[in-house]
Amino acid sequence: MNVFGKVEKNINDLVENNVYWAACATSEELQKAREGQLTIKFFDKEIPAEWLKDIKGKKVLCLAGAGGLQAPLLACAGAEVTVLDLSEKMLEKDRAVAEKEHLNIRIEKGNMCDLSRFAGGSFDYILNPSSLMYVPDVRPVFKECYRVLKTGGTFIMMAPSPVNYLCDFVNDENGGYYKAVNRMPYCSSDFDEMNDWVEYGHTMEDYIGGQIECGFVINGYVECQLEDITELHFLTRAVKIK
Ligand SMILES: C[S@@+](CC[C@H](N)C(=O)[O-])C[C@H]1O[C@@H](n2cnc3c(N)ncnc32)[C@H](O)[C@@H]1O
Repeated sequence: MNVFGKVEKNINDLVENNVYWAACATSEELQKAREGQLTIKFFDKEIPAEWLKDIKGKKVLCLAGAGGLQAPLLACAGAEVTVLDLSEKMLEKDRAVAEKEHLNIRIEKGNMCDLSRFAGGSFDYILNPSSLMYVPDVRPVFKECYRVLKTGGTFIMMAPSPVNYLCDFVNDENGGYYKAVNRMPYCSSDFDEMNDWVEYGHTMEDYIGGQIECGFVINGYVECQLEDITELHFLTRAVKIK
């Protein structure tokens, strides 16, 4: 099985086991988005409301963003939404919410590394929830995002910082500690070829430098530190200026 086949299987298994990030938007959250109060969570923070304030009527690609959460919220806020994701189980959630809430969402199964089904300049916004840790190379994804955005379009992405992958946990009689042992870039299968879990710790050079190299201008950055000190996530906003 190739990398993407493994990722798809892993995600589908997690969805079947009710992983927390596969929870759909609630009716209350959807109603608030309809009333002009769109809130898209970024762990215990939110995507700054300012970044999405003109979303009504805009063409939005929810990239690797299935699960019945972001796409329905954006549709309720008046955006014209396409969601593309590798996992059929995650897409089923968008289908179910769209049907229940009478939302018109274009739902596509596909790989974020290949956006050739979309013409250049198709979207005003791309929203990419945390998912780039499942692709071996982020740079081709950024190039494709740049191509399918209109000039003036906005690319918002969330990802785990490399610090998430630096350390291994060492058990000892005092309860254990983290030890920094891994160099970036990191790939889980370098350490456990027998295990089918595939995850990549990309460098900030790839995440930030990769967007800049495509021509994006990054004009927004937020971090979220979770309780575990190695769990640091970041969010960037980038604009295609020409
Ligand atoms: C952690 S979930 C994020 C989605 C979720 N709605 C959230 O709020 O965080 C990661 C998503 O990325 C998708 N994904 C992973 N690799 C992908 C790829 N190469 N192409 C498209 N989607 C991918 C998974 O199927 C999964 O739905």
